Amino acid sequence: MTTIRETYRRLHPGSDRLHEEAVRTFPSGVTHDIRHLTPFPLYVDHAQGSRKWDVDGNEVVDYVMGHGALFLGHAYPDITRAVQEQAAKGTHYGASHELELKWGALVKRLIPSAEAVRFTNSGTEATLMAIRLARSYTGRDRLLKFDHHFHGWHDSVVGARYGESDTPRSAGVPDATLSNTISLPQNDISLVESRLADNDVAAVILEPTGASWGTFPLRDGFLADLREVTAQHNTVLIFDEVVTGFRVSPGGAQAHYAVTPDLTTVAKILAGGLPGGAVAGEADIVSLMEFRDDAAWNTRRRVFHPGTFNANPLSAAAGVTMLSLVETGEFHARAEAATARLVRGMNQAITSREVEGCVYGLASYFHVSLNSECSRPQDGIEWPLRDGKAPPRTAPQVALALKQGMLNHGVDLMGMTGGLVSAVHSDEDVDRTLQAFEATLDEMRAESLV
Ligand SMILES: Cc1ncc(COP(=O)(O)O)c(C=O)c1O
Repeated sequence: MTTIRETYRRLHPGSDRLHEEAVRTFPSGVTHDIRHLTPFPLYVDHAQGSRKWDVDGNEVVDYVMGHGALFLGHAYPDITRAVQEQAAKGTHYGASHELELKWGALVKRLIPSAEAVRFTNSGTEATLMAIRLARSYTGRDRLLKFDHHFHGWHDSVVGARYGESDTPRSAGVPDATLSNTISLPQNDISLVESRLADNDVAAVILEPTGASWGTFPLRDGFLADLREVTAQHNTVLIFDEVVTGFRVSPGGAQAHYAVTPDLTTVAKILAGGLPGGAVAGEADIVSLMEFRDDAAWNTRRRVFHPGTFNANPLSAAAGVTMLSLVETGEFHARAEAATARLVRGMNQAITSREVEGCVYGLASYFHVSLNSECSRPQDGIEWPLRDGKAPPRTAPQVALALKQGMLNHGVDLMGMTGGLVSAVHSDEDVDRTLQAFEATLDEMRAESLV
């Protein structure tokens, strides 16, 4: 019997070769942690719409979608045209420009909490800035986050000395910084309340659909509870909508759930597939970055924020085009219909094979959980077990086989077990994905992995 891993090697000799070269330059041969894949990652040559083609000529239905940035698929014609036209007019003026105004106006119109906006170059920079603003606003140092919630890779968010996750996700973070971050399990408002009681927490930050883009969904009402207790303790509430912003609805998760935070961080879809992020929120807080007619304020009190590529014209051109197109919600309806068909079909494949696990999601993303307790078949796409239990985790060797098996059948999942669906994923893409999933499950069963 040929194994999934052997087939992966056989089908991707070009990627194997490039990876051998890459390890001589990059740590583990990769340029982003999530692209690390055993025995080697896929090397892509070009992409269009919902598909990409690897260096061996394999055609792949893509659910990575630029790590969630490509809500309209690869090389969407209007965005390509806007970027090409802007490139010909100049990529960086080192000056203010009209497109950044249009871009900021769209963010204000779409995101309920956005009274004022500041552009950054990434989601990591956006959360860094939001936390710094909150610290400056409250005069407090501590940050409260939740276990398994991801906010980028800067020092304040990759680990904590308080709470359950006492192990930093990264080495190299000063102990003093770790000591200022508190991490608690999500969904337990009384734990949050008791931690806020000392009035020393500057901000509570979370992914508003649950840890790791909804891998572990929040219980109903948790966002509203957080809104209430943070307001009581004058703690800044930050929704990290880097993934969910403009995706879960045109106004993000906060519009979907009708809970408005003080600050919001966005990136990915915001910049139409180019680099970009933003912090947006209450004018009182964001205006801590403003210059005043007061030298002491400007030199010592204001929040400092340079950044060579902030609101650069290329990202602004792509972002304005993307946000103008998705504003009406029509593209959301298409992406969500494709996701619902996928989730239903994948759950049927699981149930009919009597495999343990389930597929769930929200709006236009999905997660696959195998050999786990959420085995209840379901009709909708939302996770059936919103009861505060730990997130369902597929064992690493099972997840790896799923990723490789799906790639062998022409489908690239986000990470190992997820998917970000675009508005250009077609019925044919969904059919092909379901066939790939069924075949992969059968192969995994033959290897006693499920
Ligand atoms: C919720 C969340 N916050 C922040 C980030 C960091 O964004 P970036 O990769 O643009 O730095 C990510 C990245 O995936 C994210 O998912």
